[in-house]
Amino acid sequence: MKVLVTGYQGQLGWDVVRTLEARGVECRGVDTGDFDLRDGPAVKAYVQEYAPDVIVHCAAYTAVDKAESEPQLCAEVNGDGTLNVVRAALSVGAKIVYISTDYVFSGQGETPWKEDDPYGPLNVYGLSKVQGEIAVRSLMKRYFLIRTSWVYGIHGHNFVRTMLKLGREKQEIRVVDDQIGSPTYSADLARVICDLIPTQKYGIYHVTNEGYMSWAHFAQMILTGEGIWCRVLPIPTSEYSTPARRPLNSRLSMDRLRAAGIAPMPTVENALGRYLQELELENMPKNTP
Ligand SMILES: NC(=O)c1ccc[n+]([C@@H]2O[C@H](COP(=O)([O-])OP(=O)(O)OC[C@H]3O[C@@H](n4cnc5c(N)ncnc54)[C@H](OP(=O)(O)O)[C@@H]3O)[C@@H](O)[C@H]2O)c1
Repeated sequence: MKVLVTGYQGQLGWDVVRTLEARGVECRGVDTGDFDLRDGPAVKAYVQEYAPDVIVHCAAYTAVDKAESEPQLCAEVNGDGTLNVVRAALSVGAKIVYISTDYVFSGQGETPWKEDDPYGPLNVYGLSKVQGEIAVRSLMKRYFLIRTSWVYGIHGHNFVRTMLKLGREKQEIRVVDDQIGSPTYSADLARVICDLIPTQKYGIYHVTNEGYMSWAHFAQMILTGEGIWCRVLPIPTSEYSTPARRPLNSRLSMDRLRAAGIAPMPTVENALGRYLQELELENMPKNTP
């Protein structure tokens, strides 16, 4: 099996390549230096030259707030760009893994979203990811469409790093307490992706770490986990203005993943503990005996 991974310099792409390499799978990670997703002929030429059996498409325009003022660029990368990857995959007969998001849903109610629930994106980024999903679902048969949420990884900026920085600088931080979802460690998500790709268990899956919580609750877990004393002041979304609207209910049901017999995702607590340990290792001086 030969695997091409887009978004290699991003959080998830990095961990997918790392996981595939650890399993001895032939793979190649690509990023903007190799081709721009918006350039259809370039995407196709690259894919045809490498001729992968699987494309794990992690690359995306992910700046949720900035997207509100760059809707065209966001749609071109996430919608048209995904269509380019789909066409290239079809031209070499490759399976595809498309990574999508809880932001394709409206955030209403309190029950976890099921895989076949209707779309209702609230922001430009969510709409562009729906466009990517439609490209995959309408043209491909052999696809894994994986929706995840609140991703953090070793290779990139994310909420955990931000909380650690703010927690060390301030006595008190205000964090939203009425958006509920599941923080997800990209290394755990990468493991599930790598478990799924050799199978023929195609379709839509929700994959997050186990457990639902608010951003404020997660912030408190991060600070406690690192022994940082800083008060987390829970606030409603209405008191934290951002250009993009965000769903209040981002709970994703993982029933289909369980039914597929894939090893379950670890809890949020477990995942965060391992992530913080890995961050510590990364920050240790490299040349100590
Ligand atoms: N982060 C989250 O909380 C979250 C939540 C749910 C779903 N997701 C989805 O999960 C996937 C991975 O997210 P992530 O957090 O790993 O993203 P990320 O860290 O922002 O990485 C995205 C990658 O895509 C590349 N990219 C952007 N525009 C491109 C273009 N026009 N052509 C080629 N490559 C391009 C970026 O390259 P440059 O660095 O060179 O720009 C970067 O390497 C994405 O599909 C995202 O929509 C993320």
